Amino acid sequence: MAPLLQLENVSVKYGAIEALREVSFSVEEGSITCLIGANGAGKSTTVNAIAGLVPTASGRILFQGEDITKLPASRRIAMGISIALEGRKIFGDQTVIDNLMLGAYTRSKNLSKLRREAEEMLARFPLIADRGQQLAGTLSGGQQQALAIARALMSRPKLLLLDEPSLGLAPILIQEIYQIIQDLADQGTTILLVEQFAAYAFMVSQNACVLEHGQLTLAGPVAEVRDDPRLARAYLGK
Ligand SMILES: Nc1ncnc2c1ncn2[C@@H]1O[C@H](COP(=O)(O)OP(=O)(O)O)[C@@H](O)[C@H]1O
Ligand SMILES: [Mg+2]
Repeated sequence: MAPLLQLENVSVKYGAIEALREVSFSVEEGSITCLIGANGAGKSTTVNAIAGLVPTASGRILFQGEDITKLPASRRIAMGISIALEGRKIFGDQTVIDNLMLGAYTRSKNLSKLRREAEEMLARFPLIADRGQQLAGTLSGGQQQALAIARALMSRPKLLLLDEPSLGLAPILIQEIYQIIQDLADQGTTILLVEQFAAYAFMVSQNACVLEHGQLTLAGPVAEVRDDPRLARAYLGK
């Protein structure tokens, strides 16, 4: 069976800056693959390119075997790709429920149906389950991250892209967020997990990809990548 997601020699440029150079890897259905690397390595660029938020300079992105490289982000959401952006990017002046409903607007315009689905989604997230009517901006960092993940799930993705869900959170809240990710994994959700802190990502992932200055320098099962000396190099610089 073809992987759910395949990147083939994907390069991304911001003007003269080559942020990704010929990156190739794949994500198998029903698995968690983590994408790790130091700050500035190109992790967000990779998931944003998969979501269609930044254009590729060259290479191909395949989803369910279909070439999506040139499709707009809206089409990719409809096909089943959803992203929880780095820094959470929730709508602070709207309620938690309204944030969740916005996560599904591409799927349905039936507001009462969306509200019911948002309430069902909320019930799956103990960190925010009783916060439906609260303004999202008044939630704690960990609650906002839970909301960002819940919102990304509202489009019923086949592939969930999570960009640094632990960013800026206290260790106790990181554990709560990773419990959510583990629960999603147990339910069979396919996830590409971007994380700067490899130790967290390794707890829930089967496979790992290591980015270094825009290039993929190491990829394979977590059990192998974890013990590879090149992992330390990716973080320490050389
Ligand atoms: N919008 C942008 N314009 C110009 N350069 C950018 C932009 N976004 C990211 N970069 C640069 O691209 C490289 C990769 O960034 P990024 O993908 O955000 O890395 P990471 O998520 O691994 O920290 C960095 O050198 C960063 O400064
Ligand atoms: Mg990033």
